[in-house]
Amino acid sequence: MPSQCVRVEWDGDFAVVITNNPPVNTITADVRAGLNAALATIKASYSVRGVVLMCEGSTFFSGADIGEFSGPPREVEYRTLFNAFEALEVPVVAAMHGTVMGGGSELALACHYRIAAPSTRFAMPEVTLGIIPGAGGTQRLPRLIGAEKALEFILSAKPISAQQAGELGFLDELVEGGLRAAAVNFVRLLLAANKGPRRTGEMNVDPESATAGVFQKLTAQARKAYPNRNAGLVAVDAVRKASQSSLEEGLEYETIRVNECKQSVESRGAVHVFFAERDSRRVPGLDNAASAAPVKSAGVIGAGTMGAGIAVCFANAGIPVTMVDANTPALERGIDSLNRTYQGMVDKGRITAGEKAQRMGLIRPSLHYGELRDADVVVEAVFESMDLKKQIFTKLNGIAKRGAVLATNTSTLDIEIIADSTSRPGDVIGMHFFAPANVMPLLEVVRTSRTSATTIRTVMELAKRIRKTPVLARVCYGFIGNRMMEGYAREAERMVLEGATPRQVDGALEEWGMAMGILAVFDMAGIEVGVNVHRANATRYPADPTYYQADFALHEAGRMGQKNGKGYYRYEAGNRSRFDDPDAVEILRQRAHVLGIETRNHSTEEIQQRCLYPLLNEGFRILGEGIAMRAADIDVVWTSGYGFPRYRGGPMFHAETMGLPALLAGIHEYRDVFGRMHWEPAPLLVELVERGIRIADWEREQQGEGALA
Ligand SMILES: NC(=O)c1ccc[n+]([C@@H]2O[C@H](COP(=O)([O-])OP(=O)(O)OC[C@H]3O[C@@H](n4cnc5c(N)ncnc54)[C@H](O)[C@@H]3O)[C@@H](O)[C@H]2O)c1
Repeated sequence: MPSQCVRVEWDGDFAVVITNNPPVNTITADVRAGLNAALATIKASYSVRGVVLMCEGSTFFSGADIGEFSGPPREVEYRTLFNAFEALEVPVVAAMHGTVMGGGSELALACHYRIAAPSTRFAMPEVTLGIIPGAGGTQRLPRLIGAEKALEFILSAKPISAQQAGELGFLDELVEGGLRAAAVNFVRLLLAANKGPRRTGEMNVDPESATAGVFQKLTAQARKAYPNRNAGLVAVDAVRKASQSSLEEGLEYETIRVNECKQSVESRGAVHVFFAERDSRRVPGLDNAASAAPVKSAGVIGAGTMGAGIAVCFANAGIPVTMVDANTPALERGIDSLNRTYQGMVDKGRITAGEKAQRMGLIRPSLHYGELRDADVVVEAVFESMDLKKQIFTKLNGIAKRGAVLATNTSTLDIEIIADSTSRPGDVIGMHFFAPANVMPLLEVVRTSRTSATTIRTVMELAKRIRKTPVLARVCYGFIGNRMMEGYAREAERMVLEGATPRQVDGALEEWGMAMGILAVFDMAGIEVGVNVHRANATRYPADPTYYQADFALHEAGRMGQKNGKGYYRYEAGNRSRFDDPDAVEILRQRAHVLGIETRNHSTEEIQQRCLYPLLNEGFRILGEGIAMRAADIDVVWTSGYGFPRYRGGPMFHAETMGLPALLAGIHEYRDVFGRMHWEPAPLLVELVERGIRIADWEREQQGEGALA
């Protein structure tokens, strides 16, 4: 069947191949078929003198179809297609705009010339998905710009501007104004200057850029940037191969290596998270008749750390927001913090001073609740006190317009009780942002037993507009993320009382792949924050006198973490580095002595297992209890909100990678040493192991039951 999304238009003797495959011109099977058909049209023309390749819509080709990763290998198909464009006997020009990623950049490399609109950005992010550019990128890019620069670009995986791409030698020209006309004109000028095809594949890699020293340096760089991972090292090998062989041989090698990469856990894990994030907004079983309500304006109550950050999220999305606080100094602190956030963005060149003014203009600070009367969504972010939140929701109930979403940012409080203080519990929902709210992508959306389908839909849609990845949870203490944190942190704290040093514990966790060790996280958040939560929830805790005692001991010794320069570590003014502190170790030793805790020698493996097993185990409880809709949602929470390595696919994916029987056996082993209080396996984990089935099998069964119910 002819492709609907690729067409050839003629501009005199020039063939303009136009692709339109919304939303981002992914190179799907349909697009490849269309490009092949376009090639046939071009080859059948006797008069064609030049070819322009371009896309309509938001961007030039954004990349390969990640959905095909799990299917049969497609590299040879890509290679044949791209080679055919490169082999054309007339000049082929890629005319680009938008964000040109992966396969898009590789197709551009197979063209003879490349021009772009000044706002275009380019990236080859493959290594972050555990693979290498597999459609000629590792072979053509070094031929065009040298091995060293090519590898630096591939390893950084970050987008560069058109300006930078020009400096690298990737682009021939930046063009202002109409891209199509400029591209046709570009070909015309080429021909007038007697210039024909200039094939990247026929170039040689500059030997100076491909010395043993260069590869050694880049190997070290790949190891450092991607610990526990292999794709960066494979990229080095592939680029080295480009410097030593013909294009054809190099492409063969690239294909073999990229297909090896696709089988790896690091790739399967990263791809799993990619799709889990894309799908997290889907809410199966929600009343289809309910649609999202439009959000034209928002309100935030509390101008503190979270409130100000949440206001920034709305303003960045162009949604006007009223930010209310109880008193002038607090409101002024909030405005100050908005100002600093935006100034930081201006200083980093992310927005202009004009954009800062425009966004600040969308935030209206106020001391009056009455000004929230028109808001479609109000997010409460005041101190973590049930009495205070109840008062505020009672007040809001009298002020907010009918149908407005009434959201709370509480981390620990029971949203069912908060909803009880209104006469419209269907409108009440949790919107749990993570600090800093304007930076962290995760949004836990917490529905009570009475939250309406419309409210859920509205918030899930709103999340997209404010660029958050929403995960829907049900009410329980700590929701998904913090509830899983409980056992993870409990063991870390317990081990420093057993004689492990904070650095040993954090080091083991970071070596495993966590973005930051948990004790360092506590220092950053403030030890008193944890202590306040522990105190407020003392009645929930198990009868374990050692529970979170490391936090209490440091707090009693006046150690608040980074803010006063001492916590689990010592800090120096103006420097976020952590230094070992014998004083902290001594405080912990004394507390352990008082509590009668025996000293142990901890291997790195023990530290990792003791922290991770309870984390994974709790994930199974959360899934079994229906707190999370899907295991993949739990993976999203931990990878996007808690620094769990994406290349391990999130906690639930990791549990299956290590094997559920191995996890269960590990939990049993620690139960034999430390007792049942904290080491009881989750019923769902036991069930899956006993039945020998995978999480996905169980989820399918549940859906079947849901459909019957
Ligand atoms: N800080 C975090 O990392 C984090 C993360 C997720 C969720 N939360 C939750 O977000 C909420 C706010 O936390 P925060 O860290 O921003 O606190 P904060 O202390 O920085 O700010 C709270 C703000 O609420 C204001 N306030 C108090 N009473 C008020 C009232 N009656 N009306 C209007 N404003 C009032 C205070 O003046 C202050 O500006 C809490 O529920 C907290 O548990 C915090």
